[in-house]
Amino acid sequence: TISDLVDAWHEHVVLVFRDQDLDEDAQLRFARQFGTPGERARPPERRPEGVDYNASIILITNVRENGVPIGSLRDGEMWFHHDMSYTEAPHKGTMLYCMEIPPTGGNTLFANMYKAYDALDEATRDRIQGMRALHIYDFALTERVDLSGDIDRYKHRIQPIAVTHPVTGRRALYVSPLITARIEDEPADESERLLDELFQFTEDSDLIHEHVWRPGDLVMWDNWCSCHARTDFPETERRMMRRCTILGQPLYE
Ligand code: OGA
Ligand code: MN
Repeated sequence: TISDLVDAWHEHVVLVFRDQDLDEDAQLRFARQFGTPGERARPPERRPEGVDYNASIILITNVRENGVPIGSLRDGEMWFHHDMSYTEAPHKGTMLYCMEIPPTGGNTLFANMYKAYDALDEATRDRIQGMRALHIYDFALTERVDLSGDIDRYKHRIQPIAVTHPVTGRRALYVSPLITARIEDEPADESERLLDELFQFTEDSDLIHEHVWRPGDLVMWDNWCSCHARTDFPETERRMMRRCTILGQPLYE
């Protein structure tokens, strides 16, 4: 069964399992069928779940207890990104389990980055060959890192603009508006212009799937060939998700 799921995952990029009833151990046990669970990037003293909480689990929630947040990526909209693309070995997969949803919004959008690559015109595909870009993240949801300061304050990594998926061998576009801050070896204005063009995928409904959550959904996605975003939702409503990831490897063109 697991090998069928692995094949389906590689073919379809995002898998949805409805009506699950998972505690933390069951979620991690399932994740281990696909690899080694990753640990979160945020240092222990900055984890809202507390220093002693399982480092492989992140609560993705706006819930606050006595006014104190208990999770990460809290309120509202979040721009498109690949999880952990600012690290040396981006985690291969993410598994998000839904416990509570707001009555409206808070949907997760998935962009198929194989299709985003294929949608580029030939001249652009030729042009980005060999190009690399800076991925950097400061845990904001709807703004890029300001590069005018010292970038060593934030985790960052230079990645190819297009990567070859290590398992499927297919080429995928690997840039995102939240985390890709500039193209290497290009003047700033040209870098911005080209990134704007590459970010057009975020508007392309042919390659985006919008997942409307139900409690009990477990969604797993392949971070090497997809990126994801979240639609806005009222901050007065509760949304509670539990996340784990599967370790990955460096990505190459
Ligand atoms: C994540 C993430 C989006 C969401 O957990 O990595 O981006 O819909 N979540 O909460
Ligand atoms: Mn994410």
